[in-house]
Amino acid sequence: MAKERRALIMLFGGTGDLATRKLYPALFNLYEKGNIRDHFAVLGTSRAELSDDEFKAMVTKSVAKESNDKKMIQDFVSHFAYVAHDVTDVKHYSVLREKADELDKKYEINGNRVFYISMAPNFFGTVAQNLKTQHLLTDNGEFNRLVIEKPFGRDYKSAKQLNDELSAAFDENQIFRIDHYLGKEMIQNIEAIRFGNTIFEALWNNRYIDNIQITLAEDLGVEERAGYYDNSGALRDMVQNHIMQIVSLLAMEQPVAFKDVDIRSEKVKALRSLRVYDVIEASSNFVRGQYGESPDGKTKPYREEDDVPADSNTETFVAGKLLFDNYRWSGTPFYIRTGKKLAGKFTRVDVVFKKPLVDIFAFPQSGSTPLNDNVLTIFVEPNQGFSLRVNAKNNEQGFHTEPVDLSYMEDQKDVPQPYERLIHDVLKGDGTNFSSWPEVASAWKFVDQIRQVWDIQQPNFPNYIPGTMGPVAADELLARDNRQWVYRINQ
Ligand code: NDP
Ligand code: BG6
Repeated sequence: MAKERRALIMLFGGTGDLATRKLYPALFNLYEKGNIRDHFAVLGTSRAELSDDEFKAMVTKSVAKESNDKKMIQDFVSHFAYVAHDVTDVKHYSVLREKADELDKKYEINGNRVFYISMAPNFFGTVAQNLKTQHLLTDNGEFNRLVIEKPFGRDYKSAKQLNDELSAAFDENQIFRIDHYLGKEMIQNIEAIRFGNTIFEALWNNRYIDNIQITLAEDLGVEERAGYYDNSGALRDMVQNHIMQIVSLLAMEQPVAFKDVDIRSEKVKALRSLRVYDVIEASSNFVRGQYGESPDGKTKPYREEDDVPADSNTETFVAGKLLFDNYRWSGTPFYIRTGKKLAGKFTRVDVVFKKPLVDIFAFPQSGSTPLNDNVLTIFVEPNQGFSLRVNAKNNEQGFHTEPVDLSYMEDQKDVPQPYERLIHDVLKGDGTNFSSWPEVASAWKFVDQIRQVWDIQQPNFPNYIPGTMGPVAADELLARDNRQWVYRINQ
């Protein structure tokens, strides 16, 4: 039986895209399971002048596909209220406070508050500070928690400034920085695979692992978000947050216990031992790309997308080689890549183990092909599971080895979506799957070095064809090290 959590959730940006597409469905799923039920309320805000009923109708619409049980939806939505509010209007916070107090009393919430800022990032600091100065934080409940959407800054300096603003109002353990990749089933499974299995953890180091590859591929382009994306680019949009978080989970030492403080402490240590590149290393170890037109003319080049300047040098693809200067990983590169308009929508991690030092099957008359790499592949999306490639004898006459995949795929029915998991964690006060400030800071310091080099060097864009796996230089990055991507098209 699910444990019911008591909380008033104050949602800034309550009419926005994220709220209606992801947050309300996630909350409904928590309601359906009983994680929230009688003692919760959602107070939505934005500038739009909506009545409670209009807001409730909007929420009803956004959760309609989650259930056929109309009564359940109606009961859920009855816990919602709305106040039109401009977050820059300091005086008006008293109206929010009164409404929050009223809902708190009505649903016997006992002062537990979650402030979720699902708005453009330039408002994050303002809202946090106004919440504090205008006394919306309670002192009679178990918690006041702040949830912050991405992006968290656009470089170390701006991230630090934002963090200082948040820290003036909330303690680090009250701040939950969302990285929705940390809510994904198979990303959370990395810890189980590593620390629950001697056969992996004992080999999880530079003696046995040749390299690790992380691919976050998207077949879509920038869609409606060009205005944001063109100012960001793939390095900031995907590498600084999602990829660095995955890297830290793969690279960290075993935490003392499976607790947020212990896990965060190991992730930070891992990120701090990542080699921060100088100009020469950044130029040679990172590759950027921007898609052009498809050969059939059906996909237009990035530079012709709506709201993208015709001379944009924003990268829609990044590949890179990351090196750790620590005992576990020295000499074992982590290769990463991500991009828009690639060959498909998928996320995977390929852990490539070293071959046996001696291939005893490779005597000339054996006819055996050389041994394959053992590869542990973690399939994050669209399928969720993992497979382990091993060499085995085939069942023909003679003795020939061939690769065999031992694979496990999860039944995806009823797997909670990332926002459902993450909001549940916020209600529980579990920060495991959120980015802590030291992690964010280390990730920016690494990424800033690449960005600085790219900002002064002119790229030769466009340089890849939609529907491929990015520019040729991304393959050359590995070929230079006598390696190749485990996932290739036309293999
Ligand atoms: P939207 O632009 O769709 O929504 C913004 C919301 O903020 C609206 O409700 C808007 O309502 C409100 N708002 C804007 N200005 C003010 C103001 N001055 N005072 C009060 N409310 C205001 O943004 P998204 O929902 O797409 O994004 C929200 C956050 O989530 C951003 O940080 C984004 O980066 C992040 N995010 C979004 C994703 C997505 O898929 N949408 C994915 C990952 C992260 P109104 O104009 O009526 O005031
Ligand atoms: C977001 C990025 O954080 O992640 C988007 O801003 C990207 O550009 C998205 O499309 C990908 O997330 P997912 O869960 O679809 O892989």
